Amino acid sequence: MFGHGLVQVFQGRHTVLPISRTEADITKREEVRSAFLKLRPDVVIHAAAIPSPDVCEANPALAYLVNVHGTHHVAEAASEIGAGLAYISSDAVFDGRKQHPYTEADLAIPHTVYGRTKLRGEQIVATLPKHWIFRVSVLFGPGKANFIEKGLRAIAAGEDYTVASDQTASATYTLDAAEKILDVVESGCHGLYHLSNQGACTRYELARHAAEVAGLDANKVIGVPSDLMGRRAKRLKYGVMEMRALKEAGFSLPRPWQSALADYLSHYLANL
Ligand SMILES: NC(=O)c1ccc[n+]([C@@H]2O[C@H](COP(=O)([O-])OP(=O)(O)OC[C@H]3O[C@@H](n4cnc5c(N)ncnc54)[C@H](OP(=O)(O)O)[C@@H]3O)[C@@H](O)[C@H]2O)c1
Repeated sequence: MFGHGLVQVFQGRHTVLPISRTEADITKREEVRSAFLKLRPDVVIHAAAIPSPDVCEANPALAYLVNVHGTHHVAEAASEIGAGLAYISSDAVFDGRKQHPYTEADLAIPHTVYGRTKLRGEQIVATLPKHWIFRVSVLFGPGKANFIEKGLRAIAAGEDYTVASDQTASATYTLDAAEKILDVVESGCHGLYHLSNQGACTRYELARHAAEVAGLDANKVIGVPSDLMGRRAKRLKYGVMEMRALKEAGFSLPRPWQSALADYLSHYLANL
């Protein structure tokens, strides 16, 4: 999903060479290396991962293979050709115990396999002189069915849609985040950035708001505590991120999530 948005936005200003798993499986060092040696990009945007906390919790070996060893191969190959490397990370590097927004200076103590692999990925990428780390959260956007699209389709089909009522985070429209990544990468201001749309919401509020804007019955969105949802990996109760590094570097912040969501729905989910 995020790869799709990054390609869409970056190709407006740059030559983009999208690489999928077919061209380079990141768990295979030589495949990554030969792809980079052939294409010789100036900048690599690394969005590949096993992004499901439940899959990672159920299969830690796979999670470490892709999210950690894979990232190591990408970093090594980027370093060999002298490319800058932008890594997509997650609010899952935090434990969710804070009651007010996490800043880039907060200690990251992940409490899931997924979060630990993403933090290890950050540490690997941070060894490169030309690196950017963007922590995003609750992605929605075109390219792949996300939880908003799945929910709206279920409601449009007359079904209830059950979502967590107790997970507060910063929703992120992939196209808005990609625009900001483009600005930051072009500026050459390396480092760690929190990146999302502005404002905080629970999954329940996000799904309800999406149903209302789409003209569907918002009462079909049923909020339940995440612990009762039978998920394998623990979810962050609180993952709101303050975008302090972007502000301090003089970048404008992405618009509020409500406006981004309305834009996404009108462009991509108008005909449910
Ligand atoms: N979704 C969220 O809410 C969220 C929140 C915070 C951070 N993130 C991060 O954002 C990034 C993008 O996530 P997403 O939601 O866009 O996930 P996604 O749609 O599942 O995209 C992940 C991509 O990684 C590819 N991939 C997996 N294993 C690979 C391998 N061994 N070699 C090469 N490519 C491989 C997948 O290819 P296949 O399709 O072939 O499997 C897929 O194209 C990830 O780094 C994730 O950790 C996501």
